[in-house]
Amino acid sequence: MRVVITGGAGFLGRLLAQRLLERGELTDARGTPRGIDELVLVDMIAAEGEAWLTDPRVSQVTGDIGVRALLAQALTPATTSIFHLAAVVSGQAEADFDIGMRVNVDATRTLLDLTRQLPAPPKFVFTSSIAVFGGALPQVLPDDQILTPQGSYGAQKAMGELLVSDMSRRGMIDGRSLRLPTITVRPGKPNKAASSFASGIIREPIAGVDAVCPVHPETAMWVQSPPRVIDNLIIGHEAPASALHTTRSISVPGITVAVRDMVSSLARVAGDTVAARVSWHLDPTIDRLVSSWPLAFAADRGRMLGMTADADFDDIVRAYIATQRRT
Ligand SMILES: NC(=O)c1ccc[n+]([C@@H]2O[C@H](COP(=O)([O-])OP(=O)(O)OC[C@H]3O[C@@H](n4cnc5c(N)ncnc54)[C@H](O)[C@@H]3O)[C@@H](O)[C@H]2O)c1
Repeated sequence: MRVVITGGAGFLGRLLAQRLLERGELTDARGTPRGIDELVLVDMIAAEGEAWLTDPRVSQVTGDIGVRALLAQALTPATTSIFHLAAVVSGQAEADFDIGMRVNVDATRTLLDLTRQLPAPPKFVFTSSIAVFGGALPQVLPDDQILTPQGSYGAQKAMGELLVSDMSRRGMIDGRSLRLPTITVRPGKPNKAASSFASGIIREPIAGVDAVCPVHPETAMWVQSPPRVIDNLIIGHEAPASALHTTRSISVPGITVAVRDMVSSLARVAGDTVAARVSWHLDPTIDRLVSSWPLAFAADRGRMLGMTADADFDDIVRAYIATQRRT
């Protein structure tokens, strides 16, 4: 089978690609387990420098997913699974409405349009976000909570979710939209997501660098570690259509942690000297966006499908330190 990952050179795209290569198979839309013969990374930038990229199953299509011809090159008739991860992230989509619409909405629509022309409806996994909810929300969001985004990124993800559900209902694709929690700890450099600091306040101090937290210490977030989110993306892909019912949107389980408690975990796991590298300086734009996101989800449907959350934030910090030691 041919598996396409848009955003395949990004943070989650690269982790997902490696996991799929190790796993070697996925279940197609007919419920048949099939070996992965081709894994295609579609991204604006080319992934490079990692050993797994030399696997003969891996190829790359490099360019802008806003260009239909580029997507058409990736989606050959052999394509049976698509993971659509490429996106303009929250901070950038809020700062530049047009680029967010072009990538998050227009390119998603073009991709779905090409997808429905494949010989058989493929599985289609769309990475949505908890930012599809905002404003006055219940303490714990039920699975049938209505979509109330309070930022352009969330609005664009909500549009993607509706398209995925409707085209699945029509039998054009076998889609599923997974609302991922904020993912931390992300290695590498900060990105343009409003939530980027949630990784920075752990990653930078561990690397001996000072970090500034732009939100109130009491601000709480719904979070998940990178390895756990990859587990859940694959579980979301593998779920049979019969288990998805009337909506194809699934809130992924996570844990709620106040930013102050993230820093306490850092102190417990890595020591007080490391945690003292975090200072607090409020950025009202980031604080407004992050504070508008929901704090907790029942995530019953996700759990029923077998998705799981991390045990606690100490575990997330320990897992990050362990991966850093391995690299
Ligand atoms: N990381 C998180 O906390 C989080 C939380 C919720 C949802 N998500 C979603 O998960 C997905 C992956 O997130 P990530 O953290 O890996 O982000 P990322 O920024 O690391 O990766 C996104 C990739 O998309 C590519 N891309 C962006 N615009 C493109 C374009 N026009 N053409 C081709 N490629 C383009 C980028 O080059 C990048 O490699 C995104 O859809 C994001 O919205 C992430």
